Amino acid sequence: MRDKIIKEFTEQFGEGGDIRLFFAPGRVNLIGEHTDYNGGHVFPCALTIGTFAAVRRRSDRTVRFYSMNFENEGVITLDLDTELKPSPELRWVNYPAGIIWAFKERGLACPNGFDIVYCGTIPNGSGLSSSASIEVLTGFVLKSLFGFEVTNIDLAKIGQFSENKFNGVNCGIMDQFAIAMGKKDHAIFLDTSDLKFEYVPVRLDGIRVVIGNTNKKRGLGDSKYNERRSECENALEILRKTCDIKTLGDLNEEGFDAVCQNIEDPVVRKRAKHAVYENRRTIRAVEALNNNNIKLFGELMNASHVSLRDDYEVTGIELDTLVEEAWKQPGVLGSRMTGAGFGGCTVSLVESDKIDAFIDNVGRAYLEKIGYAADFYVVDIGDGPAEINN
Ligand code: GLA
Repeated sequence: MRDKIIKEFTEQFGEGGDIRLFFAPGRVNLIGEHTDYNGGHVFPCALTIGTFAAVRRRSDRTVRFYSMNFENEGVITLDLDTELKPSPELRWVNYPAGIIWAFKERGLACPNGFDIVYCGTIPNGSGLSSSASIEVLTGFVLKSLFGFEVTNIDLAKIGQFSENKFNGVNCGIMDQFAIAMGKKDHAIFLDTSDLKFEYVPVRLDGIRVVIGNTNKKRGLGDSKYNERRSECENALEILRKTCDIKTLGDLNEEGFDAVCQNIEDPVVRKRAKHAVYENRRTIRAVEALNNNNIKLFGELMNASHVSLRDDYEVTGIELDTLVEEAWKQPGVLGSRMTGAGFGGCTVSLVESDKIDAFIDNVGRAYLEKIGYAADFYVVDIGDGPAEINN
């Protein structure tokens, strides 16, 4: 990768100077979906696939961006002296530009410009957080180039802030946190109500994490993500009239069942039920993993999918087909959609010696039903952002 990206860098921006190389991972969430903006728990991990960036500082106030994943867009230029605003002309650069803007909002204005080439190994729009990966990577680059004193948790917060305020997606903190704080062979059990977290070793003897990509493209901004978020806010407002809670994550199943009739709209009630039950499922799943009970962990993954399909309604025929076909295969401990939904990816735990048959069978059934192919990746859990020195 180093040679490939440096070659592209020098072709776009010329040779010489100190060209530095950085990496930030993508992420997959094992369980705890649509809980992060409801004060609940999530359990994601960083992947060894992600985004690379080659960077060289400039002495003027210009920033030039190029992405090897969007070659047709060519070089896109920003001037640090003009006000940074999201704009359709910036295209994918709205993500890194949002980070430069968010740093400035924190009083960390870039003293100089730079040239940067990105190259992602995460399929774009697949729900493995290619955008959060670019955000955290850009934050890490700014910190490294200009010596800004920010922690990796700050990078996660800055990433979420820029995605919310610059890119207009009201996402929670899960993606940016998983990426900024990733740890090899560990998943992150994060309580989004106070950002307390714990690294949990993922020891899966003879079992691998397999991602299925529906190849149905989706952008969070144009999905129903923000709508789900406001449905949950609506439910919380109603419940708070009678319960002493700050977030839906404060309720357990019994507590919710006792008061849920106060939510008259059955759709809003279902959304809130998912948020409450999924949070509890996540806590139980982590307990199961800690007890080395992968079977129970897998069953909770399956239950998570059912809830996302029936109560939260964020799956769709593509994700449901991949998951329901996965459930039929031997050697599958659990399978569910991962990320925002409406397309994107599934995550499955599959016995290593059954993976080839799994991919064949699920892939064939998907192609037959949906009319185009899915992709599959057997992934490893990796570390957070880093500078690559060799
Ligand atoms: C997207 C958002 C996250 C989270 C998930 C759903 O990935 O960016 O904050 O809400 O959807 O769990």
